[in-house]
Amino acid sequence: MKEQIETIQADALAAVAAATDERSLDDARVAFLGKKGSLTLASAGMKDLPNDQKPIMGQALNVARTAITQAIDEKKAALESEADKKSVEGIDLTLPGRELLQGGLHPLTLVKDRAVSILRRMGFALADGPEIETEYHCFDALNTPDDHPARNEKDTFYFDSGKLLRTHTSSVQIRTMEKASAPVRIIAPGSAYRRDEIDATHLSVFNQLEGLYVDKDVKLGDLKGTLEYFLRAMFGTDTEVRFRPHFFPFTEPSFEIDVKLHVKGQEPKWIEVAGCGMVDPAVFSSVSEQRKDDAFDPENVTGFAFGMGIDRLAMIQYGIKDIRLLIENDARFLQQFA
Ligand code: DAH
Repeated sequence: MKEQIETIQADALAAVAAATDERSLDDARVAFLGKKGSLTLASAGMKDLPNDQKPIMGQALNVARTAITQAIDEKKAALESEADKKSVEGIDLTLPGRELLQGGLHPLTLVKDRAVSILRRMGFALADGPEIETEYHCFDALNTPDDHPARNEKDTFYFDSGKLLRTHTSSVQIRTMEKASAPVRIIAPGSAYRRDEIDATHLSVFNQLEGLYVDKDVKLGDLKGTLEYFLRAMFGTDTEVRFRPHFFPFTEPSFEIDVKLHVKGQEPKWIEVAGCGMVDPAVFSSVSEQRKDDAFDPENVTGFAFGMGIDRLAMIQYGIKDIRLLIENDARFLQQFA
């Protein structure tokens, strides 16, 4: 039996040496050390031996097993290093590596995220609504008369169905009040669409951030304080902000807000960033009529609303002179924000 073990060992070592890849090496391992491998079968024969033979044979089996295992391990390492060598053959390892380009957030995203995080700290929660809107949510419920220029086909993208691409995020005010009850404190960032002539300050798709605050006894001072605080948190405590009386159908009184823009090498100038005002009672009436309850009865609640241009905020934040840079995806421009 000893010779038999020695023969198995010699055969196994020969098979291992002859293996040319991992698969043939594994075949050899199975043939000798596997469950039905020849060395395994030989070990099973031990129990039939006379007792005095058992230790000798046991030792011989161990020697054979160790030798074969070691040969397999060494062969495996040799095959692996050979494969490694092959995989870099012909490649000049002394060449410098390729630079991995690091991505970054778009300036609009940076500004939007910052605005949202400041307003959330102030107690506003996120809300949203569809970009394909009904005339009711975009105009009627916002007290916009039938002949208002914003409803004109020249200014608004209409679908054949009569729906439209929302011209402002103010429709989210209505969407929110349909479902919520006072107090309401929401912000809604999102896209808005207009058939504007494209130039340095206008695009046909742009980004707004709507805000709505409804409760008992909300006053004009709350609106002014909230938006001044926000704009100074955004642009620095010494930021100059001004409120200019204006008209919007859905607020009364209404204002436009300007922030002083400082661009290096240019005279500082006022740039409009937002519209705002006290929610017109007519808006609460439309909502109440639709809801058929008094959750937003204009006798009980007041509120303020605002809508700002995120593109404008980004232009102020970074001193960008042409809004088109924000959609052109020119890496030379975008890289500076990464
Ligand atoms: N929706 C207006 C626009 O797009 C901006 C605006 C003005 C929003 C006054 C408001 C507001 O919420 O109260 O020009």
